[in-house]
Amino acid sequence: MDKVKSKNLHHHNGLVSRQRREAINRHRGLTIWFTGLSGSGKSTVSVALEERLTAMGCRTYRLDGDNIRTGLCRDLAFSPEDRIENIRRIGEVASLLRDAGIINLTAFISPYRRDREMARALADEDDFVEVFVDAPLEVCESRDPKGLYDKARSGAISNFTGISAPYEAPHEPEVHLRTETQSIDECVESLIAFLIDRGYLDSSLVAAAGRGGFEG
Ligand code: ADX
Repeated sequence: MDKVKSKNLHHHNGLVSRQRREAINRHRGLTIWFTGLSGSGKSTVSVALEERLTAMGCRTYRLDGDNIRTGLCRDLAFSPEDRIENIRRIGEVASLLRDAGIINLTAFISPYRRDREMARALADEDDFVEVFVDAPLEVCESRDPKGLYDKARSGAISNFTGISAPYEAPHEPEVHLRTETQSIDECVESLIAFLIDRGYLDSSLVAAAGRGGFEG
């Protein structure tokens, strides 16, 4: 759905700006967009990263394919059109979460480059970090945590990414993880290092985490 169907709409600004929320949070609103095959480790790494960020006192929220598809996107399946709409909605939710000053981590296969670019286009230039969670298909298939590759091979599931539906790897992701060789901890460390290096995380947050963080 490309167009806005309704007419006579007027955007209404509130009194609390994104900048004010970000000042309270002591970090910017940001989308960390994980993409990769099923079984590549998107959910696992995003869960571990969210835990680390929360321990630093960051405000975070995680959007995950298998969860969102039972609620917000319960009317969508895995045809190309439905995947496009799935990612369009997630892109919009991520945009709202950025405006709320929250670091949001999205873990969707998001197989089409064009759709990931559409999600990125909603963000300001530095507010979108694409993370390619890369693992060879054979490795994802051998992990098969949900038994879905087996079903896809036998034909019980159609349109399965990597088997009977395409996956378009990012050309220039901000971060490229290789989960065949990197441990979860190593992936999280390299993401934290990237966020510090690019100035997304303030040194006071990092120092707080060193002192035991804001757990509670
Ligand atoms: S996306 O392609 O639209 O981005 P999304 O990340 O929301 O996919 O959902 C993928 C999850 O749905 C997979 O991790 C898997 O558990 C489940 N799934 C069920 N059917 C399929 C399918 N045909 N292709 C890929 N994943 C599927």
